[in-house]
Amino acid sequence: MEPPIAVTGYAESLANRSQFVDYKDTAKSYGTARQPVGLDIVLGALASAPSGIPLHQQRILDAGCGTGIYLKEIAPRVESFAAIDFSAAMLEECQATTEDASIMGGQYNTGSILDMSLYEDNSFDGVLINQVVQHLEDDETRPTRKAMKQAYAEAYRVLKPGGMVIMSTRNKNPTYDSHYWYAGFCPEAVAKMTERVPSREQCIAAQSTAGFVVGNVICPQLATFMKSNMYNDPSRIADPTWQRGDSFWSLVSDEEKAGVHAIVEEMTAAGTMEAHLKSHEVTRTMTGQVLFITGSKPIA
Ligand SMILES: C[S@@+](CC[C@H](N)C(=O)[O-])C[C@H]1O[C@@H](n2cnc3c(N)ncnc32)[C@H](O)[C@@H]1O
Repeated sequence: MEPPIAVTGYAESLANRSQFVDYKDTAKSYGTARQPVGLDIVLGALASAPSGIPLHQQRILDAGCGTGIYLKEIAPRVESFAAIDFSAAMLEECQATTEDASIMGGQYNTGSILDMSLYEDNSFDGVLINQVVQHLEDDETRPTRKAMKQAYAEAYRVLKPGGMVIMSTRNKNPTYDSHYWYAGFCPEAVAKMTERVPSREQCIAAQSTAGFVVGNVICPQLATFMKSNMYNDPSRIADPTWQRGDSFWSLVSDEEKAGVHAIVEEMTAAGTMEAHLKSHEVTRTMTGQVLFITGSKPIA
C-alpha cells in the first residue's frame, strides 16, 4: 500500500497557507464576505444520521473550520464540538466568533485534517469538511486526489458508526466559470481552479473508498457562497476584502486582474454590467456554486 502523506512539517511549512491561499491575510475579512451557504443541508444531514442520535446530543467536528461561519450556527444546536484548522489565524477568528456569540466549551486545535490523531476513533457523531478539499492537493497528489482520500479516511476513523460526514466543494458542473459573473474574464485562473476542484465523481469515489455509504449529492441553487450583496457588487472588484471572499482570486495573476478591472470599468461605463450580472444569475441559479455530498459510516 502507498504510504500516507506525512503531515509532520506539512502544516508548519505551509504555516497559514493552503496549497494556494494565504489564510493569514484572509482571516480578518473572510467572515465579512462569506455566508454559510447550504447550512440547512448540513443541519438536515446531521439530524438524519442513521445513528438516530438527535442533533442536540451530537458531538461534531468541523474539519478545516476556517473562521467558523458554519460552526457559529451549528454549535448552539449540538451538545459539543471540536474545530480544527491548520491556519492559526483562521482558528483564532473561529474561536473569537463562536465565543462572541456566547458559545463556550468548544475544543479548538491547529493541525491538518490529513492526520487528526489528536482525536480518538469513533468519537464524533458528525464531521464537516466544508470548502477544504480543493485546498489539499499539491501537483503530485492531485491526479489521484490522495490528500482528499486521506482526509476522508480520517473522517471515517473519528466518526462513530451511524455518524454523518458532510463535505462541500465548488461546483464545476457544467463549467466552473458558469457560476460566477467575473470568472469568464480570467480564463487562466479558471483553468487553474478547474484543475484544483475535484469532480463530483472523484469526491464520491474518495468517500466510498473510505468506507462511507454515499448519501445525497446536492447543489443549492439560490444562495451565493459570498454574501449576495457583496457578490453582486462589481464596484468592489479591486477591493482586497471583497476578493478575499473568494479564494479564486489567489489564482488570478496581476496581469489578469488588471484585465478584469478594465473590463468591469468599461462595462460599467457603457451601462452593460447590469445585463451581464442578470444573465449570469440565470446560469448560476440553474446549477449552483457549491456541491455538497453527504455520507454515513455504516452501523455494523
Ligand atoms: C475556504 S476555507 C473554508 C473554511 C470553512 N470550512 C468554511 O466553509 O467557511 C478553507 C479552510 O481550510 C483550511 N485548510 C486547508 N488545508 C487544510 C488542512 N490540510 N488541514 C486543516 N485545515 C486546512 C484553511 O486554513 C482554511 O481555513
